[in-house]
Amino acid sequence: MGRFDDRVVLITGAGSGIGKASAQRISSEGGIVVCVDINTEQVEAVASSIVTGGGEALALTCDVSDQDSVRATVATAIEKYGKLNALCNIAGMLRFDNTLDLSLQDFDRVMRVNCYGVLMMCQEAIPHLLETKGFIVNMASTAALGSHAWTAAYSASKGAVLSLTKCIAIEYSLLGLNCNAICPGGIETPMVAGANLPEGADERLLTKVMLPDGYFAPPEDVAGVVAFLASDDASHIKGDFLRVDGGLMT
Ligand SMILES: NC(=O)c1ccc[n+]([C@@H]2O[C@H](COP(=O)([O-])OP(=O)(O)OC[C@H]3O[C@@H](n4cnc5c(N)ncnc54)[C@H](O)[C@@H]3O)[C@@H](O)[C@H]2O)c1
Repeated sequence: MGRFDDRVVLITGAGSGIGKASAQRISSEGGIVVCVDINTEQVEAVASSIVTGGGEALALTCDVSDQDSVRATVATAIEKYGKLNALCNIAGMLRFDNTLDLSLQDFDRVMRVNCYGVLMMCQEAIPHLLETKGFIVNMASTAALGSHAWTAAYSASKGAVLSLTKCIAIEYSLLGLNCNAICPGGIETPMVAGANLPEGADERLLTKVMLPDGYFAPPEDVAGVVAFLASDDASHIKGDFLRVDGGLMT
């Protein structure tokens, strides 16, 4: 018996990094995974490798910052599988800026993907999750906890995700919904590999965002925690967050 046998789990950001590893992990424990991402090619590749391996997966292209796209995605998942047991909001974007140079358009884009995307997914999924007494796992970041230079937009968006998580958790707690967050730090994914520090960044400040040995953990280290918080094993944890950061913020 797998923890996710006969459970339908929708995972955003499933085309890469932590979302991809989470889809693979939950599938390996018997879950039916609805793999959602803005990158069609990548998300289809993830879903088809799961299917090739004997799992059940559906790939859906969706821009989580677009309400119509979010609505259509959840509707398609429900139409196909008839229920939703868990929602894992993992899609996200990162940018580094000197705060004085950060345009409102760029701030808005990060908020739309990282924060509005989580809110809109929750709004569409919660009615279905209430029927199954389901689980929400939101991806925040150690950036939500402080001391990450050049990430005004990203840190603000992740701080908002943490607050949103607690609000949803308490608001629906009496109805059986379970909502928690994860704060990863230093995970080796394309997001981190592709990030460029802003011009003139004083790299001494990197000591606040990196472990002293520079170690980056694989996305599978976070995927196991996503699976835990999306499962019955976490049923008595409500509105909390788990740091998966190798002790960075300890
Ligand atoms: N890697 C880390 O160290 C780290 C640390 C803290 C938090 N996180 C968070 O973990 C999550 C996953 O990041 P990752 O490191 O795996 O990065 P990643 O770039 O490998 O994966 C992010 C995925 O989100 C998708 N995505 C981006 N914008 C989207 C949109 N508008 N709609 C739908 N999908 C979209 C991308 O296509 C990509 O597949 C993010 O929310 C990120 O902020 C990562």
